[in-house]
Amino acid sequence: MHRRILVPGALAAASVLLAIPASAAGASPGAPGIGDPYYPAYGNGGYDVSHYDLRLTYQPATDRLEGTATVLARTTQDLSSFDLDFLLDVSEVRVNGVTASFAASGEHELVVTPKSPLVKGTPVTVVVRYAGVPSTKSAYGFSTWHRTPDGAVAADEPESAWWWFPSNDHPLDKATYDVSVAVPDGTRAISNGTLRSTTSRLGWTRYNWRQDKPQATYLATLALGRFDITTSTSEGGVPVVNAYSRDLGDDDGAARASVERTGEIVDWLSGYFGPYPFGSAGGYVPNTTTSYALETQTRVFYSPRQFANGSNTSVVVHELAHQWYGDSVSLKGWRDIWLNEGFARYAQWLWSEHEGEGTAQELADYVYASHPADDPFWTVKPGDPGAENQFDTAVYDRGALAVQALRNEIGDDAFFAVLKGWPRTYAYGSADIADFRAYAEQVSGKPLEALFDTWLFRPSKPASGARTVAAPVRPKSWQKIAATNSVHQN
Ligand code: ARG
Ligand code: ZN
Repeated sequence: MHRRILVPGALAAASVLLAIPASAAGASPGAPGIGDPYYPAYGNGGYDVSHYDLRLTYQPATDRLEGTATVLARTTQDLSSFDLDFLLDVSEVRVNGVTASFAASGEHELVVTPKSPLVKGTPVTVVVRYAGVPSTKSAYGFSTWHRTPDGAVAADEPESAWWWFPSNDHPLDKATYDVSVAVPDGTRAISNGTLRSTTSRLGWTRYNWRQDKPQATYLATLALGRFDITTSTSEGGVPVVNAYSRDLGDDDGAARASVERTGEIVDWLSGYFGPYPFGSAGGYVPNTTTSYALETQTRVFYSPRQFANGSNTSVVVHELAHQWYGDSVSLKGWRDIWLNEGFARYAQWLWSEHEGEGTAQELADYVYASHPADDPFWTVKPGDPGAENQFDTAVYDRGALAVQALRNEIGDDAFFAVLKGWPRTYAYGSADIADFRAYAEQVSGKPLEALFDTWLFRPSKPASGARTVAAPVRPKSWQKIAATNSVHQN
């Protein structure tokens, strides 16, 4: 869903065009990738999705997922065929109600050829009927479908959709979602947004979730298993829905002591980032053996291991910060990952200050001092780290250091105006680092090219400038902050 502005002239031109019979004589296949240099085959060309309607049934005993996806899109070129990204087995595809031919291609492409070509700029409805056992499917030799003893979880970055619904799998193409999943009674289905209703019939319960704000495909999540649910409303009025696997064992207390702080932390972050952009918030902790957390929209995914050493509110701050920086304002391309991770990490620094465990400047000084100039840490450019280093620690720590450098350059008044104004200016859209620099320059009135170049785009340790940082002192908050990326069990 790209936001468009309708001007009267364009409206008039459109009605003239409508009078001419539609023709797609020069129609060509949509590109198999959306054009992201980090992941050339991810996403697709030729259309833009506005809504996914997924009506699914899942059996935890066998890991079989089946159902129908109805994808509402608009063509952006005359199309003879187009791709969806998907791995499960497809039995039927209809385009605007008419059966279409389809074939699997490449690592994760489903090529759809409609009976007649599609005209640029027209709405299209694609119905895909499918079934399969996601845990038996892989692409490029890996799978991000996480089987648990009681079910499964789809939550990963940059790819998780291929294992559960056909999509235009790239953050540039955001859409709203209805996710409806039937599971055997006793199993629960968790997804994004709001639970609109549940219905029970013949031993099966259907959960109907709705995400009514645009959402990137990697931020769509599905968890199936035995969960306890808690609901509340934050002091600021944000409804909170959390879920905990019934099988968390002795991580259960620490998980709840962290994730139950969601409402408080959403309200606290709103003070820096502006009003919470979505109609609900929350998180879930399934019984996976993974170790990361992920900012799945409105319903954050937390690995139980995040809580193996006790509670961790810092990771909750990180993932909730992403709801503004990453989810509401999404990346135009995966190279822009600093806009997500640099700011989510910086929010952890602000939380550390709030908790009296070290100021943002102390954390910046510690990061700066603890990596000598010849440390490979400095060879990773947070502004363009490469796909292989997309989630390198440097993207987070050097990324937050760059945010602190910006703060020191433009001063607190302009900096906090940028921090709050950016999510409002680009709400529910997509942006890149150049957009951010332009915005920060506009708000601060300062040219920032040199600063961005030094802190984000050079493979070397920046000079410390006026600051002299001698012996690094490790702030109290450091260990919990670092554990967001890698948790070591004691
Ligand atoms: N955006 C996530 C976070 O830092 C990182 C996810 C990394 N992905 C992974 N499969 N480890 O919150
Ligand atoms: Zn993150």
